[in-house]
Amino acid sequence: MKRYGRITGWGKSVPQRILTNHDLEQMVDTTDEWIVTRTGIRERRIAGAGETTSSMAVESCRQAMERAGVGPEEIDLIIVATSSPDYFCPPVSSMVEDQLGTIKAGAFTLVAGCTGFVYALVTASQFIETGLYDKVLVVGVEKLSPAVDWTDRNTCVLFGDGGAAVLMEASDQPTGLLSCELGSNGRDWDALIAPGYGTAKPFSEEVLRNRDHFLRMDGRRVFKFATRKMTDSVINVVQASGLSWDDIDLVIPHQANARIIELAVRRLGIEEDKVMVNVDRYGNTSAASIPLALCDALEQGRLQSGSHVVLVGFGAGLTWAAAVLHWQPERGIEGPILVENWPLLSNLFQPVTRVRNAVWSTQVNARARLQDLAMAAMTPINQWQRRTRDQ
Ligand code: COA
Repeated sequence: MKRYGRITGWGKSVPQRILTNHDLEQMVDTTDEWIVTRTGIRERRIAGAGETTSSMAVESCRQAMERAGVGPEEIDLIIVATSSPDYFCPPVSSMVEDQLGTIKAGAFTLVAGCTGFVYALVTASQFIETGLYDKVLVVGVEKLSPAVDWTDRNTCVLFGDGGAAVLMEASDQPTGLLSCELGSNGRDWDALIAPGYGTAKPFSEEVLRNRDHFLRMDGRRVFKFATRKMTDSVINVVQASGLSWDDIDLVIPHQANARIIELAVRRLGIEEDKVMVNVDRYGNTSAASIPLALCDALEQGRLQSGSHVVLVGFGAGLTWAAAVLHWQPERGIEGPILVENWPLLSNLFQPVTRVRNAVWSTQVNARARLQDLAMAAMTPINQWQRRTRDQ
């Protein structure tokens, strides 16, 4: 019998301390107005003493297990997606496993920048579909604040700390992951980098002097990549899922910048109420951003049993990842039957869906090309305006 990965529990954990844009105005040469208009961010959470990557992961997992009514002794595997572990060695996933008190669980840490959670979710689904495991915890968590240069206004306004987790369990009813796309464009590996954080440039006085242990980013390169990849990968996964765009109830994009999301929304021609945005409250929490947004969407009642949701992320690497999920957390409840269960209906409807998706994809590409042209034309004008204003 075919097996599916059903998400049955979820939970989140964010630090107590809130750092607002007005607080940042006291720290670097910036303004609330600049940050809000360029990024949509109003505040972010910053971890205090005792709030670590592992502690946020553990709290999120506990909530997810409680919601699902599953004990730690039942967990088979824990996957922690993060770029900011407590230590480089040991893997933070083992610290999480220890603190949760699991008995038989394997655990590993997955590093794929801000796309880590979607990579981890797809990985968990494979373990379940193959029959190897029944219960897998998937965590996206970051304590980025120690890797942020709080004197660099280009980056310090963007990032925040937090974590969230889901529990995926084996199910024989069709649900969970319907399609996915995992991508990497390693040519742009240096677009978002902490040069002195690893073994290529081991920690030294020089690293400290050059502030190479902090995150650096080529914002415009990431922006261009993100808008292109978000639209392309959403189209690809919706097409691969066999659903049409109208069947999608919610899109949960990586919460890096509201402008990136807005641009992608316009290109895709999506209604705004189909898109989850909470970047204003947490900033960019990297691997935690998509599961945090998922938890907030659930708190706000934006996902019902039977909903179809698209997750889409991009980030360091540069990487991207997208997935279509059928959302049905209750065990043993018959949801809307997917087309794949009805070969006759499937054969009838699939060509219609394919044609509709092809029309949609052509429209999105045309809009994207027009917007790229408009942006290319506006960039020199904006730069000239800035230069004359500064003189
Ligand atoms: N406050 C005030 N001014 C700032 C500033 C801040 N916090 N940060 C940068 N600026 C200045 C720049 O120094 C520049 O000044 P200059 O023209 O005198 O050189 C000016 O604002 C414009 O900078 P620019 O980089 O062109 O701004 P932008 O419109 O591209 O916005 C980002 C910058 C970072 C918001 C945008 O590029 C972005 O969001 N990129 C994607 C980042 C991202 O998503 N990263 C995470 C990936 S997971």
